[in-house]
Amino acid sequence: MLNDAAVVILAAGQGTRMKSRMAKVLHRAGGKPLVRQAIDTALEIAPPERIFVVVGYQADAVRAEVEAAGAGAIHQKEQLGTGHAVMCGEDRLAKLGGRLVVFVGDCPLIRAATLEGLAETQRATGAAATVITTEVEDPTGYGRIIRGPDGGVLEIVEHKACTPAQLAVREINSGILCFEAAPLWKHIHELRTDNPAREYYLTDMVSILIRAGMRVTALKIADPNELLGINNRVELAQADRILRERKIRELMLEGVTIEKPETVTVDANVKIGMDTIIGPFAQITGDTVIGERCRIGASAIIDHSVIGDNVEVFPFTMVSASTLDTGSHVGPYARLRMGAHLGESAHVGNFVELKKTHLGAGSKSMHLAYLGDSTIGAKTNIGAGTITCNYDGAKKHQTIIGKEVFVGSNSTLVAPIEIDEGAYIAAGSVITDRVPAKTLALGRARQVNKEGWKKRS
Ligand code: UD1
Ligand code: CA
Repeated sequence: MLNDAAVVILAAGQGTRMKSRMAKVLHRAGGKPLVRQAIDTALEIAPPERIFVVVGYQADAVRAEVEAAGAGAIHQKEQLGTGHAVMCGEDRLAKLGGRLVVFVGDCPLIRAATLEGLAETQRATGAAATVITTEVEDPTGYGRIIRGPDGGVLEIVEHKACTPAQLAVREINSGILCFEAAPLWKHIHELRTDNPAREYYLTDMVSILIRAGMRVTALKIADPNELLGINNRVELAQADRILRERKIRELMLEGVTIEKPETVTVDANVKIGMDTIIGPFAQITGDTVIGERCRIGASAIIDHSVIGDNVEVFPFTMVSASTLDTGSHVGPYARLRMGAHLGESAHVGNFVELKKTHLGAGSKSMHLAYLGDSTIGAKTNIGAGTITCNYDGAKKHQTIIGKEVFVGSNSTLVAPIEIDEGAYIAAGSVITDRVPAKTLALGRARQVNKEGWKKRS
């Protein structure tokens, strides 16, 4: 945490190179919108009330992300450049004093530790501003760091304005700077638009501050990946891959086994307990929490769900917005959705779908069933092919099944319906009336055998 710094994240641009109807900073990498990724990193160095995001293009949608994260939004009506974006925040930012860390909202790989390093370098060198730089193979599109004979930073020249000699410079501006607030606000109105893009470039502050007799320094970092700016979907995919590699690595170092890690997708907010094993091609997304000693099978997809300890999710199973208690099993090829809840040690097998259904502790539905809007007690067995008819074409209805019930194969349970504890449903029944406790219910035509029938025909 930096105790004297505010952060401003520039996120008002459209991002034309994304070729998208959606603002660039709303595109996702590592399972989060770019702007959210930037705010989450900023939250590691400053409290939410000192974090501001400049919004403009699709302002309402971007503002919603900003406010959900607890940060403040600053409106930039017209996108006249990165310098103009910072100027739009003058009212709210200048009075905070101290230092201002500025970073572009399309740079999701930057680490909080690097931002702290930036602030430290700025302090240690006594500079009015410090910029994070790195050397890249291909600097196309980035601003170039121009240094003087003594190695000191002289200016940043945008790609479009570079001379041929400057184009050859491979040290680039990350777009992440730490300013001493007082000189920044004193001189920011000296920015001009006399450049090829006719924009107010924040990067011009470097030469402005130097002209005013101050120093600008650089923190040059070794890993250019960290500074990757997202301008198109190729770079978005690169950032996504790197963020996911980081997450997977973090999980493995915390004691999660991940088989063929390069194939596994885990979103940033997911939590997974020790000694859980994740199979190849699994996708675990949203705010999912998984306990210890679980086994998540190959190609399983788990979204926004809570999974206890010792749970087995067999391959090719989809689980979304559901809860799986300790020791439960599901799959292969099963689907749990919209508030499905497996009690302790409940088992769900192949081609079973559960929606808004609680399957009690130790209960089983092993094959080919649809259980929707149902509450099922403990130690109940749901036979193969059981269907809860929860929808009458207009409304959804509840099915309530007690504990230790046996539902025979291929039963049709027409909701609303109650089947009380210990009841027994004969296979192939269509059940439309309540079945009292410990009762056998048959709801089908009796079999008729016609002797010798074949000979006659
Ligand atoms: C910028 C830097 C460049 C640096 C690169 C690093 C400037 C002038 N250039 O270039 O030196 O190498 O980032 O990735 O600063 N934005 C606004 N309002 C505006 C314009 C932009 O909020 O009026 C936001 C955008 O939403 C974006 C960020 O600022 O998140 C950067 O804008 P972008 O147009 O991508 O700048 P680059 O050309 O990449
Ligand atoms: Ca950019």
